[in-house]
Amino acid sequence: MQQQYNFNYEEFADIKDLAKEDGSLLEEARRITQKAYAPYSNFLVGAAGICNNGEMVFGTNQENASYPVGICAERVLLASASMLQTEEPIKAIAISYNNLSGNGGSDKPVSPCGMCRQSLAEYEERTKQPIRLILSGMEGKVLVIESAAQLLPLSFGSDALK
Ligand code: THU
Repeated sequence: MQQQYNFNYEEFADIKDLAKEDGSLLEEARRITQKAYAPYSNFLVGAAGICNNGEMVFGTNQENASYPVGICAERVLLASASMLQTEEPIKAIAISYNNLSGNGGSDKPVSPCGMCRQSLAEYEERTKQPIRLILSGMEGKVLVIESAAQLLPLSFGSDALK
């Protein structure tokens, strides 16, 4: 039997078209991008999250001379939230980047890598709440996705280990 998977997401031309709270979160993500440690790729990523309790959590990518040791901004944020805001659901995460060596600027949204999608999906499962993703570069178009799990269909989760 044929099965189908699809999902809806929103697209906005600019940060100013977002709901106020989403816009503020994206501003925070763009700001924190400058704290990235990305001397090897020159691709700076910043993530800012807002928890149900109003606390904010942040992450930037942290690279290493031994390349695979590097960690993405999203997983730095989730590790921080897991430690500082244990079991506190995250309402939304804005993710931005600044591609310092790219020719195309930093004005097109990028979305989380596969490993981060897996991590985000587990955080949602653990806190029983979807995380809204707000994706953009330093300027231009913004994508809003209602739940990180939507980016990982047929995902592997803790149920499989039971
Ligand atoms: N990176 C992130 O931090 N998040 C993503 O969603 C994609 C990629 C980082 C990993 C690496 O430090 C650099 O961006 C280039 O891949």
